[in-house]
Parts: sequence; C-alpha cells; structure tokens
Amino acid sequence: MDNEIDWGGLSFGYLPTDYNVRCHYADGKWGEIEVSDSPFINVHIAATGLHYGQEIFEGLKAFRGKDGKIRIFRLEENAKRLRESAKGLLMAQVPIELFCEMVIKAVKLNERFVPPYGSGASLYIRPIEFGTSAQVGVKPGSEYTLVIFVTPVGPYFKSGFKPTKICIMRQYDRVAPRGTGRWKVGGNYAASLEAGEKAHEMGYSAVLYLDPKEKKYLDECGPANFFAIKDGAYITPASDSILPSITNKSLMQLARDMGLEVQQRHIAVEELNDIEEAAACGTAAVASPIGEIDDIDTGDKYVLSKDGNPGPVTTALYNKLRAIQLGEEEDVHGWNTIL
Ligand code: PLP
Ligand code: COI
Repeated sequence: MDNEIDWGGLSFGYLPTDYNVRCHYADGKWGEIEVSDSPFINVHIAATGLHYGQEIFEGLKAFRGKDGKIRIFRLEENAKRLRESAKGLLMAQVPIELFCEMVIKAVKLNERFVPPYGSGASLYIRPIEFGTSAQVGVKPGSEYTLVIFVTPVGPYFKSGFKPTKICIMRQYDRVAPRGTGRWKVGGNYAASLEAGEKAHEMGYSAVLYLDPKEKKYLDECGPANFFAIKDGAYITPASDSILPSITNKSLMQLARDMGLEVQQRHIAVEELNDIEEAAACGTAAVASPIGEIDDIDTGDKYVLSKDGNPGPVTTALYNKLRAIQLGEEEDVHGWNTIL
C-alpha cells in the first residue's frame, strides 16, 4: 500500500495507517499500553470529554533523515506541554516516560508510513487525551484515555514555502484573556472555526488574532505562533493567551545561534508598519512566510513581501530547522530522538 502513496503530493490531511496506541487512566493510575488496528474508540455517552470538553491534544512530527534513520522532533517538550494542558483542565497528567514510550511505539509500528527523505513530507503524530468517566455534574472526571495515532502529511498551507496573505478580524477571539489559550485544548479550535472559514472564503490562509483583552497587540496566527524580523531582530509576541509553540522556541534558539537578537514581548499592531519579514510557525506550519496582513475592520494593509518571495531571515531559519530535523546538520541542541 505504501507504494501507492504519492509522498510528494501529500497535503496536511488524514490517511489511515496500520496501528494506534492507547492507554487508560482509572483508579488513580495509568494502565498498560494497548495497540489497536481499529481507528474507532468505544466511548461512554456521558464521558466528560464529550459534554464538558475535557479534551487536550498534541502535535509533533517524525522525519526520515538523510541517513535513513527516523527522527522525532522535541518529543519531551510535547510530553511536558500535554502535562501543562492536563493541569489546566484538571485532567490526569501523563508521565513523560509513558508519553515518550507510546509515541515511539506508534511511530515504529507504522514505520512504513514515515515518508522518504527528500519527499518534503513527514509523519504527523497526534496524541489526544480526553475524559471518559460517565458523569453529568460539572466537575473533573476520574477516568481518562490517551490515544496516539499517526498520519503522513505534506505542507499545512497549500502554497508550501511561499508567502500567503493573512487577516486580522477584530470581531472574533479564539480564547479569553485569562482562558485556555496557553493550553492545547480542543475547544480553542472549535472557537476559531467560524473566523477561520470566513478568512478562507475571503482568500486568506489564516487569521492573525489580537490579544483578546485590549485588541492592541498581536497574539497568534490561527494554529501557529507569529514571528517577525524587525531591524534584524527576531520578535515574537509575549502573551498568556497563546500556545507556547515548540517550533517558535526552537526558532528563537536558532535565531540566537545565527547572531540575531530575540525579543519576546508585546507587539502593537502598528508595529506591522516597521517590520521586514513575518511568518507563522508551528509543527504543521513549520515557518510559513506571510506576504501581507489585512486588518479587515480598519482597512489597513501591511505588505511584507513585495516580490512574492519569502524574506532572507525566514528562509535561513526555515532551512536550518529542516536541516536539523532531517539529520543534514548536527543537532547541537539535542532536539531529535533517533529511533
Ligand atoms: N499555536 C497554536 C494555536 C497551535 O495550534 C500550534 C500548533 O501546535 C502552535 C501555536 C504551534 O505550536 P508547535 O510549534 O508546538 O507545534
Ligand atoms: C500543529 O501544528 O501540530 C497543530 O496542532 C496545528 C493544527 C493542525 C491544529
């Protein structure tokens, strides 16, 4: 079957693979890891994950390197973030070792779906955790399930590494000022669907959200963080309503390694007038250059790429990150788990 996959033509979608791995939490402890060849789960109709939104997830990738080996990028960071999300929603926290063992198992069992080196595709790993105990009172559940499935994917934005247009839509927020934005909670994405669809219909690849309290500062870019290059510095929003992106953290380190100053701070919307480059960054988005930002309600337009090409710093950062993930360059920070 793998012979039939057009690796280079993959988009960011779901393709069935051979196995997924699962683990259940009950009576105060996590059980044994189970392997399943079914893409379905049997869930109680009163499960807290279904009606009170006790659902969190992660997203990470495995790559086939130049040397043929499989590398999982920043496995432990994703394990830690899932624990933070669980803490936020009063769910059971998955031990880091259990998470890592399950991810490695899911990748190994589906090794034939790890796209070949040079295809531009990767294996997307999606851990999901949700409340499974039956209750109707609004209180944290006592039982949870963690499922990890994988699927081969291509670029998140159809255009690949080409600047796209994004927009600011001031009548929408995806999270509240002191809400769940800093955790990877399914409900945040539900809240972003209407704005996202509207933006797509208008020809934009994503929505750039502003801080939900004052609507003065940049927050994040749909399912990705935002960074810009200004006066040669890497600037990215500091905000407690955005997801702490592991890709952004990695790019900040690479920027420092390249001798750039890194500033994590409030970025006022007006600053978009003075930036040289911008991009959306995340596991799915990698570093997707932004060519133009339109503020729909004010009519302001910020044109960042006049020639339709990505900026030099964004390109250098993108290439460096990919080279580490693909084993082309030394992984000096120890980010890859090599299988
Ligand atoms: N912000 C949001 C809302 C996301 O969904 C994601 C994707 O995971 C990111 C940022 C990027 O995070 P990461 O780089 O860890 O994938
Ligand atoms: C990711 O980049 O891993 C994401 O989760 C983004 C999106 C597909 C939800």
